[in-house]
Amino acid sequence: MIVTIDGPAGAGKSTAARCLARRLGFRFLDTGAMYRAVTWVCCQADIDLTDANAVLDAARGMQLDLGDDTVHVAGRDISAAIRTPEITRESRHVAANNAVRAHLIERQREFARDRNVVTEGRDQGTIAFPHAECKFYLVADPQERALRRQRELAARGQQVALEELLQQQTHRDQRDAEREFGAMRPATDAREIDTSNLTLEQVIDKLERIVRERLANPGH
Ligand code: DC
Repeated sequence: MIVTIDGPAGAGKSTAARCLARRLGFRFLDTGAMYRAVTWVCCQADIDLTDANAVLDAARGMQLDLGDDTVHVAGRDISAAIRTPEITRESRHVAANNAVRAHLIERQREFARDRNVVTEGRDQGTIAFPHAECKFYLVADPQERALRRQRELAARGQQVALEELLQQQTHRDQRDAEREFGAMRPATDAREIDTSNLTLEQVIDKLERIVRERLANPGH
């Protein structure tokens, strides 16, 4: 079974998807980490992120190993290195590169072949896995999402003003939503879940209940 979880950054997708996969005994696929890994590879090799062909070559040549909690490129653990503000910011160029998107979607489908997977991103239910059995679209108030991001950064020792985070978030949402290919939007058959007033535990419980119902009643 394929479970897709899409939605904007800060809606609680990542942690919910990872925990849901663990509870179900499914593999977890963090597709944002793939875009981040390509960004990291390009930054390391001084590849101009706006050079679409060079970035595509880098993506094709990237030896990527995605674990449930770790990301390795050519054997090197880059799990933390891909979460810096610089990689977060620069990843937008990679996300806007249609050829790279097509390549990464191939890899996502390869990863999911003959496996039970919870996959998380922006375009998983719409483009990567349009026939997924269970699709979710997580949303939350902009203010709440920015607050979560602020707490996440504070936990890593970075203090950033809420206003600044809100502004960055609005820009990212706009870019993600306006992309010509792989735009962030709910699939027509996705269940939208507002996580603003739910704890993480409540979100995971809700997702798990729906997936288990689906597993018990395939085809409904
Ligand atoms: O979810 P995230 O912040 O880790 O995503 C990193 C970048 O990749 C961000 O620019 C959005 C983009 N992305 C995408 O375009 N499509 C996906 N399926 C997942 C992430």
